[in-house]
Amino acid sequence: MRLGVNIDHIATLREARKTVEPDPVKGALIAIEAGADQITLHLREDRRHIQDEDLFRLKCELKDTQIPINLEMAPTLEMKNIALEALPNTTTLVPEKRQEITTEGGLDVVSMKDYLKEYIRELKESGIKVSLFIDPDIQQIDASLEVGADAVEIHTGEYANAYGKNVEKELERIKKAAKYAKEKGLAVYAGHGLNYENVVNIAKIKEIEELNIGHSIIANAIFLGLYQAVKKMKEIITNARG
Ligand code: PXP
Repeated sequence: MRLGVNIDHIATLREARKTVEPDPVKGALIAIEAGADQITLHLREDRRHIQDEDLFRLKCELKDTQIPINLEMAPTLEMKNIALEALPNTTTLVPEKRQEITTEGGLDVVSMKDYLKEYIRELKESGIKVSLFIDPDIQQIDASLEVGADAVEIHTGEYANAYGKNVEKELERIKKAAKYAKEKGLAVYAGHGLNYENVVNIAKIKEIEELNIGHSIIANAIFLGLYQAVKKMKEIITNARG
């Protein structure tokens, strides 16, 4: 199973100060050193975290590696033009609402079939693989096939937010959708809200070949690195005093 590390929230921290650190591209290189199989980033229409320049710098840094770039984006004209210029390995089409805190729910492929067919055709003609971020729903999988997607990424957010008996129910929906999509010939990925605990059941689903995980990895990175970061500052201050 491949792990795509989503670097968005490194940029969230940088944008909180509109400064240059922490640099998500530097984060991508560390993630790759640690075993990431792909770097995922979401260029949002409001540019709240990743900026256009990050995408192009990442492309440049990774050009001599085998590590693919997965660009998540809303299926808009602006984003299509950026993708056609940046040429990531994959684009994952996601729904986007300005006010949302994070991507809420999957793309409604069923209601956008005609629009997506043409949109996806153009991306694929440029050699970009297209994945659609969808809820674990059979109708959405059928529509994804119809519009010519290469892959579907199953939204695991409902599962991640579920409590008690609903966890099993949501997990079953994901398993059923993964099996169906794979049988129909789509590559199957999953992501959203996954962490060290809830990822275990998802990682066991053999039809899923790739996970894209961001927030939890970056959140844990703070605590895995905070000790060293404080220690280093303390040393510098102490040494400066002589
Ligand atoms: N996959 C897709 C399509 C997403 O939109 C996101 C969030 O940007 C993720 C995966 C990663 O979700 P999280 O940050 O909750 O791990």
